Amino acid sequence: MGQLPNGVARRIIAAIKEQIHSGVYQPGDRLPSTRAFATDWGASRTTVTAAYGQLIAEGYLTTRPGSRAIVAQGLGVAAAPTASSADAPRYLSAFALRLLALPAPAAAQTARIADFRYGDLSGADFPVLAWRRALTRASLRRAPQLRYGDPQGSAALRNALQAYLWRARGISCTPDRIVIVNGSQQGLDLCARLLLDPGDPFVIENPGYVLARHCFVAAGGVAVPVPVDADGLRTGSLPTARLAYVTPSHQFPLGSVLSAARRRALLAWAARTRAYVIEDDYDGEYRHDIAPIPPLQTLDPASVIYAGTLSKTLSPTLRLGYLVVPAALSRAFVEAKRLTDRHTPLPEQDALADLLASGAYERHVRSIRRRNTERRAVLLQALADLCPAVTIAGADTGLHVVAWIDGVAADREPAIIETARAAGVGLYPVSPMYDATEPRPAAAGFVLGYAGLDPDALRRGVAVLATVLAEHRRIG
Ligand SMILES: Cc1ncc(COP(=O)(O)O)c(C=O)c1O
Repeated sequence: MGQLPNGVARRIIAAIKEQIHSGVYQPGDRLPSTRAFATDWGASRTTVTAAYGQLIAEGYLTTRPGSRAIVAQGLGVAAAPTASSADAPRYLSAFALRLLALPAPAAAQTARIADFRYGDLSGADFPVLAWRRALTRASLRRAPQLRYGDPQGSAALRNALQAYLWRARGISCTPDRIVIVNGSQQGLDLCARLLLDPGDPFVIENPGYVLARHCFVAAGGVAVPVPVDADGLRTGSLPTARLAYVTPSHQFPLGSVLSAARRRALLAWAARTRAYVIEDDYDGEYRHDIAPIPPLQTLDPASVIYAGTLSKTLSPTLRLGYLVVPAALSRAFVEAKRLTDRHTPLPEQDALADLLASGAYERHVRSIRRRNTERRAVLLQALADLCPAVTIAGADTGLHVVAWIDGVAADREPAIIETARAAGVGLYPVSPMYDATEPRPAAAGFVLGYAGLDPDALRRGVAVLATVLAEHRRIG
């Protein structure tokens, strides 16, 4: 046994034990090297070696020659700490209280057979080589200084997006109207902060996109749910409101397309009441059976804030999206973006600009669209073959469908989800997308996302779903 640990070594020993007991270091985790630990603590390497030696002697750590110390197996790790009054916040802002009052969205499941979670893409669809090449090119273009970028987004990306939006969506805008954001979610958050004060009413589709609704409610907005039907948002009697959030190309989640007459009515309402319309064109690239639908933005660029995302074509993990804002709002969005996070990471912006400018992005979109059209065909065929008493909505565009379970009441959704989960299938109910104060369809319904699943998993997932539904129909 070496020297007795000195004061610093004793503090290191106590700190590591505390980290092990509280579960920060788990059995099997590697500790930092003695050199790295010594640098972090401003201690000598001899002191850290003595501390590690003592922990090995007490059975907390194990080592093998030449490798870093490892936390020993079988040590008691503290249970997750329970909330006590000491853990409660001292105070919270009104924003935080509104935020915490919102229901948390369903957590992702780990499903053995198929997880129909909407929003996932298949990892196999990501253009790994093209993205790596573009990122490498971006990082090799060394700037003399590493300097914060433009909060609005890199000029290269905004120029490339301007051209892409014109080609792909018929949007005509100058780059100074485009703001690059970390996913359209950040765009919605900026809209909430810039356009809503506490107590302001906002129009939201019912059912609708929960994370948009939550953004506006957290900002203090008062939701005015407006029902949707086969022609999208019902514009017959729109209330006075600051803004309306809509998904006109593919209503989320039910899938209808906002009709031409209602587009005109919505824009006339916005012009008359001086409201803004937020057009979330989240999956505009995916049209299966219908012709391209020009965005609302093209009809009235002064009323519409257009939100686009790369989450449905490249990856939701990248957190890349963009807004096309009315000229009058451009400065407010740029300054809000600056205060939020300075700007979206530049290497990713440059890589995306490269993909767009080289044509690689559009090639990729054609390929992923083809693959998702195939997945959709497999899903619809399997549902038709195996689940006869299920009505499908919203299959013309997008990456999900809604399955209404005829003859099974909505209050059975949780039980069906539980049985499906036990059988290895992740299901997500449509209920949370409805405003709790408004009437909703009597039948159970599920949002089936298919872009993350291969054809075999889709077929097997639907087979399980069919068995689960048959079981629940028997129970009644
Ligand atoms: C209606 C809607 N809008 C936008 C998004 C994309 O959000 P983001 O760009 O933040 O990933 C989603 C993702 O599921 C969505 O369903």
